[in-house]
Amino acid sequence: MQPKARATLSPEAKAAAFADLRQRAMACVKCPHLAASRKTVVFGVGDINAQLMFIGEAPGADEDEQGEPFVGKAGHLLTRVIETMGLKRDSVYIGNILKCRPDTPGQSTGNRKPTPEEMKTCIPYLHEQIDLIQPRVLVALGGTAAEGLLGRAVYITKMRGQWHSYRGIPLMLTYHPAYLLRNQALSEKRNHWEDMLQVMQKLGLTISEKQKGYFRGR
Ligand code: URA
Repeated sequence: MQPKARATLSPEAKAAAFADLRQRAMACVKCPHLAASRKTVVFGVGDINAQLMFIGEAPGADEDEQGEPFVGKAGHLLTRVIETMGLKRDSVYIGNILKCRPDTPGQSTGNRKPTPEEMKTCIPYLHEQIDLIQPRVLVALGGTAAEGLLGRAVYITKMRGQWHSYRGIPLMLTYHPAYLLRNQALSEKRNHWEDMLQVMQKLGLTISEKQKGYFRGR
């Protein structure tokens, strides 16, 4: 689906529209089971004028506790990746398809995948975030996020590294950092890094020889 044509807002109007969106999302009870189980709504974090936006699937326990996306172990890896790209975490925007942690009734630990229904219910908030921020590049982190965005099955090991278009913006599919923590193969780190090099290239960022060489097998 293409975004509605939007006249460029003044910085003040954009900040006000973003604050309004945040307020609506923070009070959302469209999924009563998630509204009942969450500690916080995890709206998103970063620069609302960012050129680059990362999209994950849903908050986990750490994010639900702290109210910020990607603050657990996977989040630390994402922050390292962003910094290895020569950027700062607060210069990009990080959000999720689902703003609430998927509930896990009867379980005290662990996460579950958001359901297609939950993603469909929540994604309009992400659309508004994307349409207000208007980043130059989107990155979907992992198969579930990619499925939520593209609305079809995604085999991330096959489809990573490919460009798509989402709401008129180039979208790169890549691995979720949690996958890279589970799978320590150098080849997978390199694959993920190659995706990030493509993102850097698309953004017109300077890529050093050192950056080009990361995770190349000897
Ligand atoms: N995984 C996600 O997809 N999003 C988060 O915010 C944290 C972990």
